[in-house]
Order: sequence, then C-alpha cells, then structure tokens
Amino acid sequence: EYLGIAGTESVSSVKNDSSLVLTDVMSAFQGKWKKNETLFQEMKRDLTSCCDAESSFLTKRNVRVGEILPNVLNKKLPLKMTRDMYRNLIKDWPLKHKRFNKCAVVGNSGILRGSHCGASIDSADAVFRCNLPPLGKKIYQEDAGVKSSFTTAPLSMLKSYAKMNEESVREQFLKDMEQYSGILSAKKPNNYTKYMIDSIAAARGGELQMVYEHPHHFLRTNTYWNNHGIPKKITSGIYLLSMAMTRCDEVHVYGFWPFPYDDKGDAVGYHYYEAPVFTKDSHDMPLEFMRVRRLHQDGVIQVHMRCSR
Ligand code: CTP
Repeated sequence: EYLGIAGTESVSSVKNDSSLVLTDVMSAFQGKWKKNETLFQEMKRDLTSCCDAESSFLTKRNVRVGEILPNVLNKKLPLKMTRDMYRNLIKDWPLKHKRFNKCAVVGNSGILRGSHCGASIDSADAVFRCNLPPLGKKIYQEDAGVKSSFTTAPLSMLKSYAKMNEESVREQFLKDMEQYSGILSAKKPNNYTKYMIDSIAAARGGELQMVYEHPHHFLRTNTYWNNHGIPKKITSGIYLLSMAMTRCDEVHVYGFWPFPYDDKGDAVGYHYYEAPVFTKDSHDMPLEFMRVRRLHQDGVIQVHMRCSR
C-alpha cells in the first residue's frame, strides 16, 4: 500500500491555521513536475481493489429489484431498488474495460478564472467534471475548456426539472444537458426523488448516457480516504480523482483551490462561474487540498494552477 498519503504529516489543523501562507501552499505547484510511476501504480492498485472500481454505477447486473442499498445522504432512509428505477438502469457499466491515457479532473474553484487552462483540459482523452458546471459559454472556454466525458449531477440541480412529464420541462432539460457529452452520473441516489428517475429516462436514447452512482462504490472510496488522512466525507472532486486514478495512465487536476485568496492576495471565488465571493465552507476542503498537494509533490497526480497560453 502506498503510505505516502497516510503518513504522519499533520494537516488536521489546516483549516483554522492562520499561519498557513497561501504563497507557500501555491509554491508546491510552480516547479517542474516529475511522475513517480511506482507510487502511481500502487495507488491505482489500492483504489481499484478497495472500492470495487468495476461497479461504480448501478447496473442491471450489479443490483436486483427489491435490493436495499445505503442512501449516502440519509442513513435512516435506505435506498430500495424499485422496479421503476431498475427499468432505467444501464445493462452494464459504460466504462468497463475502458482505459484512458491522459485524464483531466476539473474542480469548480474560482482559481480557474484567468488560468488559460481550457486547451490543456480539452487535450485530455477523458475529462471528469463535478456538479453540472456551465460549459460551452465562450467566456469560460479559455479557462475551463468545453470537453466533458464524465460529469456528476447532484440531486439538488436535477430538482429544477422535477416536472419532467411536462413537455417544456423535458425540452429544457435536454437543451441544458446539450453542453455535456459522455456520461452523466446522478449523485447519491435515493427513493425520494422521482425527478431523478425521470431525468434518467429522459436522457435515454440521446448522446448522453445517464447513470446512477453506486452507493457502495462511493462509500468504499470514502472509507479509503478516511483511512488516508481525510476524516470527513469526501468531495466530488476527490471522488472523481479516485475514479480517474483507476482508469487513466496520467491524472491532471485543475480547479482545486478552496481558499478565498490566491498567492498574490487577490480574491478567488468559490466557483469559477460566479462572482469572486467565497460563500461556502463545506466538507474539509482545505485539508483535502493539502492531501491533493501532497499527491502532486509525490509525483502521483499533476495539479495545474496556471497554464501557458
Ligand atoms: N473545489 C475546490 N475549491 C473550490 C471549489 C471546489 O477545490 N473553491 C473542488 C472540490 O473538490 C469540489 C469540486 O471542486 O468537490 C467541485 O466543486 P463544487 O461543484 O463547488 O462542489 P461542492 O458542491 O462544493 O462539493 P461536493 O460536490 O463535493 O459536495
């Protein structure tokens, strides 16, 4: 097992540590990066075996009607695989046996603004994105790119299409989803969101393949990180990074920077597509980020803050 990231370095106080100088944090990303193939392969193996990487989504093969699965959002209300849900599952999972050379995992931090990383992101063979970020728009293209191969869709965002049986809502949903390609994965499925089933049904037959995240895969990946220095629930960013590690030969990371300022003291927005205000403080992102930084320093993944034009 690759113990580098489970090492003794204490980062638990990162969040409240006013001595954390962002210039120092940023400096780790400025030198030349060199891949450590041995560590990369070790972590790939660990993440593949710990979490049943071949079952990342619910499919007709890995779940049965009536089966009870955990509800990641609410332990007390487990997910029961209903006939309706089952009917809309994919037969087998789309990434089975698929391997990519270069992958980009893109977080939504405001650090992307002015990064000029769009071309670098789009040059990846597969691009993993979180939470239906706005793509396509010209103003974001230069910094965030347009390509997407795998995108997570949170229930809170699918909710706006709740009345999917209305033609206009259905049309709007399909139109809004046009900016994505590849796979859309509905996060943390439960039985209380009919709109999720409806949106999966609506997307069927189109360019997009819509799937449900497998709760066991998420929870196992979460446990892996809990044992490797991230005590709280992992973010979508870490989840996708973990998934990319199991399918790609090179993992490049963009848009991770959970701090309200950059190394020059300029304000950084929580999201690249919003005004530069920092409104959120969820998960344990600064601590997670220090883990990501460590992986970069150890040569496992390459984090990009600014890209050359
Ligand atoms: N992120 C980051 N710094 C930010 C914002 C986001 O590093 N200022 C990374 C995190 O890994 C996060 C991912 O980008 O999971 C996607 O961002 P966002 O859509 O904002 O995710 P959240 O809703 O904040 O968190 P999650 O989906 O993980 O619950």
